[in-house]
Amino acid sequence: MKGRILTTGGAGYIGSHTTVELLKAGHSVIILDNFENSDRDRVARIPLIAGAADVRLVEGDVRDAHLVADVLKRHEIDAVMHFAGKKAVSESVADPLLYYHDNITGAVSVLSAMRDAGCKKLIFSSSATVYGDPDMLPTRETAPTSASNPYGRTKLIIEDIIDDTAVSLNGFQAISLRYFNPVGAHSSGLIGECPRGLPNNLFPYIAQAAAGVRDYVHIHGNDYETSDGTGSRDYIHIVDLARGHVAAVEHLLSTSTDHAPHRKVNLGTGQGHTVLEVLHAFSRACGFQVPYRIGPRRPGDVATSLADPSLALALFDWKPQFDLEKMCWDHWNFQKRELDKLNSGMRMPHLMHDVVADHATLNGTHPSALGNRDALN
Ligand code: WQD
Repeated sequence: MKGRILTTGGAGYIGSHTTVELLKAGHSVIILDNFENSDRDRVARIPLIAGAADVRLVEGDVRDAHLVADVLKRHEIDAVMHFAGKKAVSESVADPLLYYHDNITGAVSVLSAMRDAGCKKLIFSSSATVYGDPDMLPTRETAPTSASNPYGRTKLIIEDIIDDTAVSLNGFQAISLRYFNPVGAHSSGLIGECPRGLPNNLFPYIAQAAAGVRDYVHIHGNDYETSDGTGSRDYIHIVDLARGHVAAVEHLLSTSTDHAPHRKVNLGTGQGHTVLEVLHAFSRACGFQVPYRIGPRRPGDVATSLADPSLALALFDWKPQFDLEKMCWDHWNFQKRELDKLNSGMRMPHLMHDVVADHATLNGTHPSALGNRDALN
């Protein structure tokens, strides 16, 4: 069944890649984003990748439950994918109340709007951070959860809120997707990860070091119990992750016999790679050695994080296709394009008008209606 999907935070790194895959699978998409941590340029590129597709943008804040409910009703949304939220672990440690307020208020607002609008299918953007430092590797969804930072705790709390909501609303169904480490970019190089300021995560930091934006990569510790002493993670290509979302929402929209009110499902590869393995793979992708130095461990890091992805295969018949080389190549391809744009002083021409969320835009007459390419000028 093809659906009408609302992607909150749909202009973000994961949201935009998922929107592309939803459109390619024939679904219609409404993006709701306040552009607090994303760019309009990225949204404007979506039709360039997905071709003529039914995608519309509403600029607004998920914490405005009335706006969300209005979007759900006016566009007769079949399912919501809730990506919007803050996701920097270090920032969450420095300012936990900001994370509790923004992430939890946003989730409660979306759920309240869904209840009021009668929308009963939800995909939630959760994280492997909920496992803390797992005893069981690879880690299944039945593993104990114990977040080790406020960001991870917001994910756990929201999963619990969804549990309670699913029980209280007849027919409501949700899937919380627990991401391991999403990396890479769409093969077109048109969309990818663009952290503002100093990257927290390994891949964007390596990409910026390769581009000369950073002097070298700081390797956080090489005395872990891993093959080479550096931290090991389950990196998953962003397009594999996006296709996992499409498989999950189509599972919810199908007439499957699975009536579980709320499932938690890992999205990972089951294959781990150390920091040094990633650095060497990235150096092969860009054709030169990316400079690095080994320093002390980063507080809060675990030695190893590794998914058991078998439930996603059993439920959605989904499994990741891309390997570490492809992740590095696509990430580097995107980074180079971004660098070329910066060096040429060119900014992507605003392919669409700035959009102010008001009811007039919801019927798609405003240039924000990206449904037809004429709206892009
Ligand atoms: C990966 C490895 C670091 C940076 C975080 C969040 C998680 C998810 C993904 C949202 C570790 C090492 C890193 C650097 C390094 N985000 N590293 N130098 O910490 O596994 O997960 O992002 O859901 O919730 O916790 O990802 O990329 O920061 O680190 O050596 O400059 O790279 O020690 O071993 P992490 P990461």
